Amino acid sequence: MISPVTPIGIEALSLYAPPFYLDLDDLGKARGVDPRKYRVGLAQDEMAMCPPDEDAVTMGAAAAAAALRQVDASKIGVVMLATESGIDQSKAGAIYIHGLLDLPRACWCFELKQACCSSTMGLHTALALVAQRPDRKVLVVASDIARYGLGTPGEPTQGAGAVAMVISAEPRLVAFDTAVGSYTADEMDFWRPNYLREAQVDGKHSIRVYLEALEHAWRDYREQGGAPYASLDRFCYHLPFNKMGQKAHQHLARISHGEAPQAGMAEAQAYGRRIGNTYTASLYVGLASLLETDPEDLTGRRIGFFSYGSGCMGSFFSGRVMPGYREALDAERHHRLLHDRHRLSIGTYEAWHRHDLPEDGSDYETPRVSDGPFRLAGIRDHQRQYERVETAPAASDLAEAETEVALADA
Ligand code: CAA
Repeated sequence: MISPVTPIGIEALSLYAPPFYLDLDDLGKARGVDPRKYRVGLAQDEMAMCPPDEDAVTMGAAAAAAALRQVDASKIGVVMLATESGIDQSKAGAIYIHGLLDLPRACWCFELKQACCSSTMGLHTALALVAQRPDRKVLVVASDIARYGLGTPGEPTQGAGAVAMVISAEPRLVAFDTAVGSYTADEMDFWRPNYLREAQVDGKHSIRVYLEALEHAWRDYREQGGAPYASLDRFCYHLPFNKMGQKAHQHLARISHGEAPQAGMAEAQAYGRRIGNTYTASLYVGLASLLETDPEDLTGRRIGFFSYGSGCMGSFFSGRVMPGYREALDAERHHRLLHDRHRLSIGTYEAWHRHDLPEDGSDYETPRVSDGPFRLAGIRDHQRQYERVETAPAASDLAEAETEVALADA
């Protein structure tokens, strides 16, 4: 028995990517690296860049606002924020999101951490909470800024973005099976101490332990009664860079003594190629990408999911695509979001990368750059000031602001 009696799953799924990106050809030129290493070797084309007036909260709020347009928001009883880009050691970023979206007061709000797979822990927790009280809906938000040092091997695998999922007993997109495979091992493949802005990473080791975690989580999934390999129609992997998903797919086929089916693989990676790594959001960016770009009708098809979080934890699970899923997608908005972004010059990218919010307690007003629906206006008395943006700046103002920030920080 791998499906619950009452289907529980994703009722709404929306993405947000900041309106700026760096083309990896430009990065290759600047670093003296053959751009094919990025486009072919890592299977990445572009990476989203978070402007100085956005953070994990503003991106998460933007994704959540879009997801909530499709559901009865008065039923939201829990808001979780999964992130590795937290803004406070105590107060949950989920409370800021709850406030910005004016959600019901009868609500739990909390933050989750275990590298990139805390969003999946949020999803599994949400499924249990909804099973307990099927009248309640849970908002799971995953939002991150993937940062590595300038000029390091990790640099082309950065990105930024958020996903919001409404989990309920009225799933319109995917209903999850009950079997879940788990794996944990104490590894130092990727971590970020509190005093550093950029992740520390042992790149080659991280690839090895990702594949080990996949293997163990898959075997556990099968032992828990999960579907046989041949009955999985599509696959979504955590995508720190797309080539990792391809390596994972080959590895899973090898240990399952099967062929690695290619249907849906490019589709599940289409958005990630342009956004880059979004840590906690990455697996679900892949799901949105698959559902929104796969030309086949996926109704009733079973998707296998692998979630990986460095440190390390893995989870393999599965779900079925619901009838009528296409009407519940936010595809048009997502295509517009990706299409309307501004391409950054390498100079602005580097200036933004170096840009730091003050850490000495001084007040600060953030330059207005983003045209997203929420922005970080500044810091006052050690408190981040968020605002809802009623009118987006015109494109020419954006270009000017971009230059100003670049110059101010050069
Ligand atoms: N044309 C085509 N391909 C080329 C090429 C060229 N001119 N030059 C190199 N390549 C290929 C290489 O052959 C290689 O492909 P294979 O892995 O298939 O052999 C690929 O490009 C990458 O080349 P390198 O291995 O030499 O790259 P690197 O050592 O400079 O860095 C990396 C790669 C280790 C992934 C690095 O970008 C990194 O550390 N990234 C961050 C860590 C990461 O993402 N780890 C993934 C697992 S951890 C995880 O999943 C959690 C998370 O989100 C961080």
